[in-house]
Amino acid sequence: MIPLFKVFMPESVMEPLQQTLMSGYIGQGVKVDAFEAKLSEWIGCPRVLTLNSCTSAIQLALRLANVSFGDEVISTPMTCTATNEPILAFGAKIVWADVNPKTGNLDPLDIERKINKKTKAIIMVHWGGYPCEIDAINTIAQRHGLKVIEDAAHAFGSTYKGKKIGNHSDFICFSFQAIKHLTTVDGGALICKNAEDHKRGKLLRWYGINREGSRKDFRCEEDVVEYGYKFHMNDVAATIGLEQIKQVDGIIRRHRGNAVFYDEELKKIKGIEITLREENRLSSYWIYTLLTDKKQALMGAMNEQNIQVSSVHARNDQHTMFKDFKADLPGVTEFTRRMVCIPVGWWVTDEDRKKVVEAIKNF
Ligand SMILES: Cc1ncc(COP(=O)(O)O)c(C=O)c1O
Repeated sequence: MIPLFKVFMPESVMEPLQQTLMSGYIGQGVKVDAFEAKLSEWIGCPRVLTLNSCTSAIQLALRLANVSFGDEVISTPMTCTATNEPILAFGAKIVWADVNPKTGNLDPLDIERKINKKTKAIIMVHWGGYPCEIDAINTIAQRHGLKVIEDAAHAFGSTYKGKKIGNHSDFICFSFQAIKHLTTVDGGALICKNAEDHKRGKLLRWYGINREGSRKDFRCEEDVVEYGYKFHMNDVAATIGLEQIKQVDGIIRRHRGNAVFYDEELKKIKGIEITLREENRLSSYWIYTLLTDKKQALMGAMNEQNIQVSSVHARNDQHTMFKDFKADLPGVTEFTRRMVCIPVGWWVTDEDRKKVVEAIKNF
């Protein structure tokens, strides 16, 4: 079976991991600081907060955006439920905007149509790693005084207008969960554009307590001003992250190389359409999505050839938990009807990718 996802774990983690595990300190400490510094350097943005997941990053971003009961948040159904469940946790209402059926990414025009006085924030998701219309969405948000959150769980290393994702909006959320480009087993990061949000986020990721501040005694903290969460990363996860980040450029290069090969080969096949590519942005291809009118039959044929394919995420608006938020979303319907994700990652060899193309051709 050529799998759709695979965990990357270099042998080189073993020695530093053992050292950290036996060091007598495994909570949030020097390894977290070191990993945070490396991430900042790699992304090119100083305000990085490492966390225990991307789901936590989204929840923290919504909190920093001051989303609360009765507010509205505009979001996409084309994502993992992790993007949208945190909105419910604040008692806020989800307003679905439609997607471009050629990318799976939010349509800025539909976002603007859905804005009203209750709207507080917009969450975009870079489907498969392909960056959204970030500038257009931010321009709309600024016009209406809204905060913009990028769920960049798929898009570690993707670029938009010459800069890595992580440098464009108020808040950017990354995932270092098991099958992402860079894994810390579980983990995530939140990047804040603004220094005030970064400072507050640093407190809220650990109960609202200032870890760098003075203490009443060895254990007891000074006054805690507002409640926070237990969202921090630990030194064990960060130790893995420090080894992973040394190799992540190579990982992303291989995902992209396989995607270029598919783009070239698949556009020659009748009945297969590749998703939109624009020159000002580059995906890191966490997944590779193709479009076809014969989705179910193609998926069946690929599985028979031992090639794992999937839709990866079910449209969120059809889940019972989101039943109160209905919308007419023709772009989502069109995209979900036609999209198929095929294996593209670092584990897909030259031979594997030829086999994938052959299977599609023969179909
Ligand atoms: C788009 C998207 N957002 C959020 C998440 C949640 O990430 P985590 O597992 O790090 O919380 C995922 C997980 O795959 C995802 O695909």
